[in-house]
Amino acid sequence: MAPHLSLTGYHSIQFYVKDLERAVRWHREKFDFREVARSTKDSEKRHGMRSIVLRGPGQIGWIFTQPIEEASTAGKYLKSHPEGLGFLNFEVKSIAQACEFLAERKAPFLYDIQEHRVDGGLWRETAIATPLSDAGFRFIEKSNYTCFAPGFEWTADWNTVGGNKYQFEDIDHVTCNMRAMIGLTEFYRHCLGFERYWGIDFHTAHHNPDGGTGSGLESIVMWDPHSGIKFATNQPLAPYFNNSQIQIYVEDNGGGGIQHIALSTPEIIPVVRDLRKDGCRFLEAPGKYYEQLPKRMDDNKIGAILEPMDQIRKQGILVDGRDHKYLLQLFMKEMCEQFGDAKGGPFFYEIIQRAGDPGFGDGNFKALFDSIEQGQVALSRQEMRDRIDCLF
Ligand SMILES: [Fe+2]
Repeated sequence: MAPHLSLTGYHSIQFYVKDLERAVRWHREKFDFREVARSTKDSEKRHGMRSIVLRGPGQIGWIFTQPIEEASTAGKYLKSHPEGLGFLNFEVKSIAQACEFLAERKAPFLYDIQEHRVDGGLWRETAIATPLSDAGFRFIEKSNYTCFAPGFEWTADWNTVGGNKYQFEDIDHVTCNMRAMIGLTEFYRHCLGFERYWGIDFHTAHHNPDGGTGSGLESIVMWDPHSGIKFATNQPLAPYFNNSQIQIYVEDNGGGGIQHIALSTPEIIPVVRDLRKDGCRFLEAPGKYYEQLPKRMDDNKIGAILEPMDQIRKQGILVDGRDHKYLLQLFMKEMCEQFGDAKGGPFFYEIIQRAGDPGFGDGNFKALFDSIEQGQVALSRQEMRDRIDCLF
């Protein structure tokens, strides 16, 4: 077998936040993620940051980190960016194998392998910089390691803490936005050994070439076939390159970065219903979406879906697929909107239920694209109507 990173999955994801209590409270109250660990006093003093860990889907930790010192990693990140994802942390079978693979490809190491031993257990990690502005990737090998991570102490038992009432199963994919995607997709290919999985491009001007306005994007998904980890990358598409919501994200984020994480669930309807009741805000599909859906489902041979269509429509859930396979998905509004604070940042969550379809909802992509634009571009009612019409 060709050499590879030996990735096995996500260990954790790490947000850098200005308001630790707010971010933790939101994820606890909305997603029912329960606290399992905190940074130790010693670590807080040494690194100038305070962290709380919630148990996310599967075995993945959701780390929230607030700077105590401006010169800390989180402090530096937040000088250049609003709140957002600063690290994706992956488990690997062999850190030696991962490091050899990365070194051969001139990956930008942030530090050499660090070792931590506790009660006979061993934790070994390294990290690399990425083209995603100040966000990094960390690689971790664990054996019999019983703490959450070095510098953390348990505040609850991971196995019995419960929570996650929506049964989020995993991170389905991570999506990043760049002005120029090739630096990132080639980084995935060259440094991480990922392969192309999927891609589309879309522009409103394709549907309405004489409109004199519009916006578009290109999207490529790269994946690691060994672990199944998938990263999507978007970039704006000309004409009207700088009108794209991708560009607006890059401006809001102070550079390219991680735009959304898709959480998979076996049953999306109750998730969306209850999150709506709980005050969470979602991107709304354009008005004609459900009128056009039966025809789109016929054209794509999606066939019957198991979930009641009246509930799908009532909850504003999006349907896509082809050849008797489908997926249901919906996009939450950005954290800055959930918090009512621009410093909350442009990161958001997608909720996805797969029924056999391995894609990313390119039909819905167009609907999403349009609905994101509705929130970002001040258009007259007539202009808005025209743009919605031009999609279908
Ligand atoms: Fe997505």
